[in-house]
Amino acid sequence: MRFEDTLNKLHALDRECGLLSEVTALLSWDQEVNLPRAGVEERAEQMALMEGLVHGRATSPEIDKLLRELGSTSENPRGDESLPALERDFCKVLRREYDRMAKLPPDFVREYARAQGISQAAWAEARKRNDFAAFAPHLQNMVDIMRRAAGYWGGSGAGVYDCLLDLYEPGVKADEISRLFKPLRERLSALIRQIAARPQPDTSFVEGEYDPDQQARYNHELMKRLGFPLDRGRLDVSAHPFTNGMGYNDIRITTRYAKNDPLSSIFSVIHESGHAFYELHIAPELRGSSLGQGVSMGIHESQSRLLENVVGRSRSFWEGQFPALKEFFPRQLGQVSLDAFYRAVNRVQPSLIRTEADEVSYSLHIILRFELERRIFAGELAVNDLPKAWEESMKEFLGLAPDTDAQGVLQDIHWSQGSFGYFPSYALGNLYGLQFWQKLRSDLPGADAAIAAGNFEPIHTWLADTIHCWGKRLDPPELLKKVTGQVLAPDAFLDYVETKYAGIYGL
Ligand code: CO
Repeated sequence: MRFEDTLNKLHALDRECGLLSEVTALLSWDQEVNLPRAGVEERAEQMALMEGLVHGRATSPEIDKLLRELGSTSENPRGDESLPALERDFCKVLRREYDRMAKLPPDFVREYARAQGISQAAWAEARKRNDFAAFAPHLQNMVDIMRRAAGYWGGSGAGVYDCLLDLYEPGVKADEISRLFKPLRERLSALIRQIAARPQPDTSFVEGEYDPDQQARYNHELMKRLGFPLDRGRLDVSAHPFTNGMGYNDIRITTRYAKNDPLSSIFSVIHESGHAFYELHIAPELRGSSLGQGVSMGIHESQSRLLENVVGRSRSFWEGQFPALKEFFPRQLGQVSLDAFYRAVNRVQPSLIRTEADEVSYSLHIILRFELERRIFAGELAVNDLPKAWEESMKEFLGLAPDTDAQGVLQDIHWSQGSFGYFPSYALGNLYGLQFWQKLRSDLPGADAAIAAGNFEPIHTWLADTIHCWGKRLDPPELLKKVTGQVLAPDAFLDYVETKYAGIYGL
């Protein structure tokens, strides 16, 4: 084959970058799960070295040279038309990554990494002391740095925020997100008002005592029942649940245990399993290459939220799973009916904290953050005015006002790391997820019955063959179009929540 030699060299370089990233992922996983407290500083040094090595390889001129030999340039990223489709997709992804990194001057990359570390530490301290003023200069610095990064990538004016969004959701622009979020906000707010006027389900049995070791035993059982291949991954404990992959056959998830709330760990396990299945089902021929990963934050969240909420909080799901859960906790749940449990896991109650939000109010937390960060990058909102703007928006969106900045503008880590443009992907995940689900249901009319019987195989197979297998080959809008024939829209998600919660709350 023409180009064979060049392709082999490029794949070998890409593989080295991938291996280095996996080693870094292992260090990071270990930091969250095992690291003794005093080891933090040395680990930070190890991580910085690894990240430098990855960055150095990924921006080596050799990659640019090989891509050019294949005809791949910034203007024509997919390269020579005679290349096989898979290799053209490979060129596209590699060219995009290379351009993004190579456009940042090395001095700037070092400054960014240093500022990020300092800002994140300042945020952790400020949150602990409830002191936004101490964090504000660091946040301002991160805003300035990301503005400069966007400048290197060619963004100016309104294009700055679009450049940042592109890091997390390639191909989706702020104006489009605004259009999608408008009906989302209106209809979710209306639904929350209707729900608030109805009696709340009894959730007292959830607040009983649930031994964390027994919860862990149940979670392993649940993973088996979900079809999680435990020879290709594992479950551990960390402060915040996450999924991290150290290779095609090593996808790890974590959860956390609260003695008085078994639902928190159970639904984290289901959520993170959704992320893990995506990575586990990527087509074997993409294994070990830059194409062999989930395509975006939004598509990733669509998979985790589908499994957690649409499947995991459905009545059918607990029809199949509640008897086993009762066997693990006979004293606490023996007398609880399936219906009472189903209502309890779907309780809707607006709260101040995003990560604790229910399925209905969650997206409102996201829209609030999206609007604030967009105003910051449009120059309409000063960093120092953020706490006040946060409070006003919270009242407007959820009718609640935080007593402290720790429960308000300081609650999330994202902005301290310069991750502006990240938040929308969580809400977009809800929209993608339900559009995919609609299609799955029409392809698999027996999906509900299978879930109720505890058989998740048909769903996994459909998701794997239709969505997961593609890895990074298709950008999110292309993937959505290919699977559903549609463009991104809020209706499927809104129809789903409105119907579901009308049933639960008797609206
Ligand atoms: Co997630």
